[in-house]
Amino acid sequence: MQTFNPVKEGKVREIYDIGENLIMVATDRISAFDVILKNKVTKKGAVLTQMSKFWFDLTKDIVNNHMVSVDTNDMPEFFRTEEFKGNSMLCKKLNMVPVECIVRGYITGSGWNSYKENGTVCGIKLPEGLKECDKLPEPIYTPSTKAEIGDHDENIDFDRSVEVLEKAFPGKGLEYATKIKDYTIALYKKCADYALTRGIIIADTKFEFGIDENGEVVLADEMLTPDSSRFWPVEGYEPGHGQPSFDKQFVRDYLKANPECDYNLPQDVIDKTIAKYLEAYKLLTGSELNV
Ligand SMILES: Nc1ncnc2c1ncn2[C@@H]1O[C@H](COP(=O)(O)OP(=O)(O)O)[C@@H](O)[C@H]1O
Ligand SMILES: [Mg+2]
Repeated sequence: MQTFNPVKEGKVREIYDIGENLIMVATDRISAFDVILKNKVTKKGAVLTQMSKFWFDLTKDIVNNHMVSVDTNDMPEFFRTEEFKGNSMLCKKLNMVPVECIVRGYITGSGWNSYKENGTVCGIKLPEGLKECDKLPEPIYTPSTKAEIGDHDENIDFDRSVEVLEKAFPGKGLEYATKIKDYTIALYKKCADYALTRGIIIADTKFEFGIDENGEVVLADEMLTPDSSRFWPVEGYEPGHGQPSFDKQFVRDYLKANPECDYNLPQDVIDKTIAKYLEAYKLLTGSELNV
């Protein structure tokens, strides 16, 4: 049997290169405040992968995506084990666009900091008098470029994204920059409207796109998971201060209250967090996680 090693191990995900396709595995690792915790959150990886699958299916009329299958029977034999079941996605390998496509429907995080300073986010002027976590009149597209290791991602405006893409794909900069912007807004609107009916606010999120062998723009990476987005419960939403995170609030609260714990959490905090992931999955998709 052919064995495989990850070509990339991120904080939370592992990527395997199997030739024409990739296998993206979401592990049960969890990060908080940019640090990987010592504990594993059982089934978190499966929740994230199945959530991406749900969104890819829901939005395939807007843009093609890289998902081929989440069934390990469609993967090389090496992956047909419990370890990869439910948490692995077979994806078409793409030439990735070097821009992170961030869309914000609410003002929070780095967007809030920038707005407080000068009333704008990524060069976009926003109305005066917004409170922290207020809903924006319209979702805004605030791209960034992937930082070299060690650096922070750099926020850019649309014109700069055209330049970055022109450099990566000569002759195609404006076309690709426009397409990824329009897709980003359309995807966010459809999914955020849907999530709201299920009790979850998607405050902001990040999409990544790639280019396929025909030069077409294809949606890639993970999609609308709590790791790539801010999910807030609708219940209790109140602008004027930070909102609780749907999935990581127990973890963050514990870490803040117990700075000496060295990123080792008690089982009851982990159990409550597992329950939150399963709840988010059920709320959004309408079914229990079944993997
Ligand atoms: N279909 C795809 N083809 C090629 N690369 C992809 C595809 N989908 C996602 N990627 C890339 O796979 C990598 C996933 O790594 P990740 O664990 O998110 O770490 P990071 O985002 O820090 O690079 C990213 O570099 C992403 O751009
Ligand atoms: Mg990533």
